Amino acid sequence: IEMVVRSTGGNATTPHMYGFLHEDINNSGDGGIYAELIRNRAFQGSEKYPSNLDGWSPVHDAILSLKKLSTPISAALPYSVNVAPREGKTKGKIGLANAGFWGMDVKAQKYTGSFWVQGTYKGDFQVSLKSAITGEVFGAAKISGPSTSEWTEKRFELVPEKNAPNSNNTFVLEFDAEGLMEGSLNLNLISLFPPTYKDRKNGLRVDIAEALAGLKPTFLRFPGGNALEGNDLNSFYKWNETIGPLKDRPGMAGVWNYQMTNGLGIIEYLEWCEDMNLEPILGVWAGLALDGNFLPESEIGWAVQYALDELEFLVGDANTTKWGAVRASLGYPKPWNITYVEIGNEDWLAGRPAGFESYKRYRFPAFKKAFEEKYPHIQLISSPSVFDDMVIPKGVAGDWHPYLTPDEFVTGFNKLDGLTKDNLTLIGEASSVHPNGGIKWEGQLMPFPWWGGSVAEGIFLISAERNADRILGAAFAPILRNMNQWQWSITIIQHAADPALTTLSTSWYVWRLLASHIIKTTLPVSAPPGKPNLDPLYYVAGQSAAGTGIFKAGVYNSTESVPVSLKFEGITKKGATAKLTVLTGPADPYGYNDPFTRVNVVKETHSELSAGPGGVFDFSIPPLSVAVLETSER
Ligand code: AHR
Repeated sequence: IEMVVRSTGGNATTPHMYGFLHEDINNSGDGGIYAELIRNRAFQGSEKYPSNLDGWSPVHDAILSLKKLSTPISAALPYSVNVAPREGKTKGKIGLANAGFWGMDVKAQKYTGSFWVQGTYKGDFQVSLKSAITGEVFGAAKISGPSTSEWTEKRFELVPEKNAPNSNNTFVLEFDAEGLMEGSLNLNLISLFPPTYKDRKNGLRVDIAEALAGLKPTFLRFPGGNALEGNDLNSFYKWNETIGPLKDRPGMAGVWNYQMTNGLGIIEYLEWCEDMNLEPILGVWAGLALDGNFLPESEIGWAVQYALDELEFLVGDANTTKWGAVRASLGYPKPWNITYVEIGNEDWLAGRPAGFESYKRYRFPAFKKAFEEKYPHIQLISSPSVFDDMVIPKGVAGDWHPYLTPDEFVTGFNKLDGLTKDNLTLIGEASSVHPNGGIKWEGQLMPFPWWGGSVAEGIFLISAERNADRILGAAFAPILRNMNQWQWSITIIQHAADPALTTLSTSWYVWRLLASHIIKTTLPVSAPPGKPNLDPLYYVAGQSAAGTGIFKAGVYNSTESVPVSLKFEGITKKGATAKLTVLTGPADPYGYNDPFTRVNVVKETHSELSAGPGGVFDFSIPPLSVAVLETSER
């Protein structure tokens, strides 16, 4: 195919083309990117998931019991664990062990921990990291007692002498039965962190954060997803319960079958944005819960005020605003910048049709009015998109969530061409989830992102880039999946306790390639007659910020390679150079990157091309592949 990339006539693109949504699903927050190693560290519970001792076991004949004390560590954490010696035991050690999020990675590095204790005790405490199989101790530390009837926090550092051979390890906290003055001790908020991404306190797990940063993202949408909506009107995402000291965070009944600690709270999300240089896209609760219930018109005012308070907490001046002062009192005097706020999540779905009607009639308008008055510079995003049967007011963006089959992505290649500048579109969640020709949502999602699905996502993203003057950005969702407990199988990265098992899916390679070559201005391509319809070569071209020429393409529905003769109008000389990167997959389009075998089925080839006469680059793109060419010339 002979194509000429014109030097003018294109459009500026969004500055935030690629990013992701994060919410706590698949133990992707607790047990995922949030680096805490202790599972159920504070016995947080809710009506839906009552407090319990999951993850904990007694050590040396100790008896563990869950206690709701009259003087808890805080109002937010009413339950604690009581550790007592078995009857008759007056000497020797007792304690408790935590199995972590299905294991713990133990390396010769500094771990930082703490716990709260209440009860009169004369003696020391000992903490250790041990093999759950052999009992081998990799590292231990002594923390001096005593403790009293007041809750007190003990802090420690623990540096194992060597790496454990696997992640089948536990954390153990022990003390001497002899030193107990009142027969037992109460413990709570038992926490242990390895070194974190960019050394943040209460921060992110390094290997997972690095795998995400490797995707070259530019925005983060949070905190949901369904998690924002909550199970019912009492358990929506309460931002003000996710801030401040960990002992003041009650956690919440997650919507994905487990209790969330909210250790990864709204401030930690913003620190994540800072550390990866991401634009925050903040979702605020819009008065609809997943059970379909929604606030009546007479009550929407408080939800609007609640969202305005959240904004004031994040961006308000520390000296002149109430919530800005609260933020400063927590150690964050400097306001953040929030430019994008999404009102709700998928308000077209739960409680349909009444829930959606309420969004159109009064919920969305109430938020819009209040935000436009107080924060006129903020780009508002309505949770339905222009594809979700909502007439969105001019100037407001919409959020589209295509979870599709590969064929649907590819046949819908021109779908975004009809977007107008009246409403930018955020592709707030996207991935291939079902195979072609299947029963879609009547059945299961595919077990992992698979090559054919990933190529189709790439082609869809190319279609988004063609329209990137009207696209706000595109996010893969959900992004993480703990292989020990999950609810949604298609994620761009899979992980477990052992960082060696962190697996980059086939989609990771496709999204990373496209995000690594950012088109600042699209440029029109003259193609042979009949080819604007593109099949089987789907492409976009443009210019980078540095002025280099970029051509991105995917080949679908072809058994043959597609030969391309490509010319950038401004490059005329023979011998001009370009780099071509091509991603191909396994012979079986259903092949995937399996975290259990760790075989990467994606093949990435790089070649240096030299232009022929007139500056024409000749190359070919294999079937079912995604390729990017970037010129060295400007
Ligand atoms: O990404 C998984 C879920 O899919 C999100 O929570 C929700 O917004 C969508 O339906």
